[in-house]
Amino acid sequence: MTNQTVLVLDFGGQYKELIARRVRECKVYSRIEPGNMPIDEIKKLAPIGIILTGGPNSVYDPDSPKCAPEILDLGIPVLGICYGMQAMCYALGGMIRSCDTPEYGKTPAMVDPSFPLFEGLSTEQTVLMSHTDGVSELPYGFVNCSRTLNCNNAAACDPSRKLYCVQFHPEVEATPNGTKMIRNFLYRVCGAKGDYDMSDYEEYQIRSIRERVGGKKVLLGLSGGVDSSVCAALLAKAVPDRLYCIFVDHGLMRKNEGDEVEEAFRGHALNFIRVNAEDEFLSALKGVTDPEKKRKIIGKLFVEVFRREAAKLGNIEFLAQGTIYPDVIESGAWNSAVIKSHHNVGGLPEELGFEGLVEPLRGLFKDEVRALGRQLGLPKTLVMRQPFPGPGLAVRVIGEVTKEKLEILREADAIFRCELQKTRCRANQYFAVLTDMRSVGVVGDFRTYDYTVALRAVVTGDFMTAEYAEIPYRILGRVSSRIVNEVKGVGRVVYDITGKPPATIEWE
Ligand code: XMP
Repeated sequence: MTNQTVLVLDFGGQYKELIARRVRECKVYSRIEPGNMPIDEIKKLAPIGIILTGGPNSVYDPDSPKCAPEILDLGIPVLGICYGMQAMCYALGGMIRSCDTPEYGKTPAMVDPSFPLFEGLSTEQTVLMSHTDGVSELPYGFVNCSRTLNCNNAAACDPSRKLYCVQFHPEVEATPNGTKMIRNFLYRVCGAKGDYDMSDYEEYQIRSIRERVGGKKVLLGLSGGVDSSVCAALLAKAVPDRLYCIFVDHGLMRKNEGDEVEEAFRGHALNFIRVNAEDEFLSALKGVTDPEKKRKIIGKLFVEVFRREAAKLGNIEFLAQGTIYPDVIESGAWNSAVIKSHHNVGGLPEELGFEGLVEPLRGLFKDEVRALGRQLGLPKTLVMRQPFPGPGLAVRVIGEVTKEKLEILREADAIFRCELQKTRCRANQYFAVLTDMRSVGVVGDFRTYDYTVALRAVVTGDFMTAEYAEIPYRILGRVSSRIVNEVKGVGRVVYDITGKPPATIEWE
């Protein structure tokens, strides 16, 4: 793409993705590369700005990643964040020292709005601090532009060399004006034009897909998840009618989901093939109770079914995948160009023998994938879909998976999701689980002995940690009463109030 680019150099910090996303939210294209990216490659990319991320190290550790001083001599604006600030100052002869009082969490800071980074902001700010080391002496030419109670150099800069650094994290929500600071860096220091948006990305990808694929055919494993759905819509626009989508319906989807996926794609210029493999999956899962075994069986069978159906189609030259940018980053793309293999379709074997791989979403974050999906006209139900595990409801039916149990779970889950959608409850993922516990109840004058359904709803941004959602009792009560009244086989409903960690979001 020909957009202006900001390079995010990774020093091992947990927020590198967030930094890159914030930059893109400001309409500037960003890419993450390793902290030791060779200087010639940086020059070739000609970024308009460079951001050095945080990291867990101390600059005095012999093995800690260092900032090459040449990066700071390129005349390109640089913003160092947290460890990035320390690495920058250390490279230029500043002193780094362990703080007397380390700072963790939201911290009041005084900033000087006469410097470009803080222009338009008031002097009192809240910032997220997370450090034990700090810059005790600034390098020659630098001036201080922010302090906190325990950190004299919370931000500093050398405007003549366009070098800026902050000890705190502007990229996180806990720094309320952090995005404004990043925007200031981009627009007031780097001279950004704001030339990046989704329509550019769409046009660029359509052109490159056409160049790559030519008159040949492409096969995509479509799961109905956000990534593979958006990938399908994009490919259908790029190479209409030369795209073949295999949707392996393993019978472990939520209520009506298989039909919704089919409905969303039937009208597109693609060859949609739905494989109803429910019986095959259920018989492979018969008698299996161990969660890991279930996952393995489903993954393996998925590949078998996909391979079988692909073989029926004959010669197809390209395989497409909905790999997205976080998958690429997690795979350590900069070191080895390893691709997380077939991330979205559960591990398709390489010996399928395709001429090439097409991954048109490789440059996008999840929220950008959703924006692209909306742009391509996909229905909101698909684009805003919650994460759903590859093994589907099999990991939400505890113990052996049977058709009867799946039916019970589907109904209970649909009621919970429908009731929660009607409210203003803030939960990022919510679903029902069918436990393998039965309990005694009484309906009319009769004793019952039915299943217990657990409801799970979590608030999370990254799905790596999560808190349970505080759903009002009134709503939980309504859901419970609807489930026990409307779903035969359920006698009790409980709400899971465990965070992650120590629990995980899914029960299996
Ligand atoms: P856990 O249960 O590990 O889940 O806290 C974190 C997030 O990942 C989803 N999840 C999966 N997604 N394949 C997927 O694509 C899987 O096998 C899988 N297992 C869990 C889960 O729904 C949650 O959003």
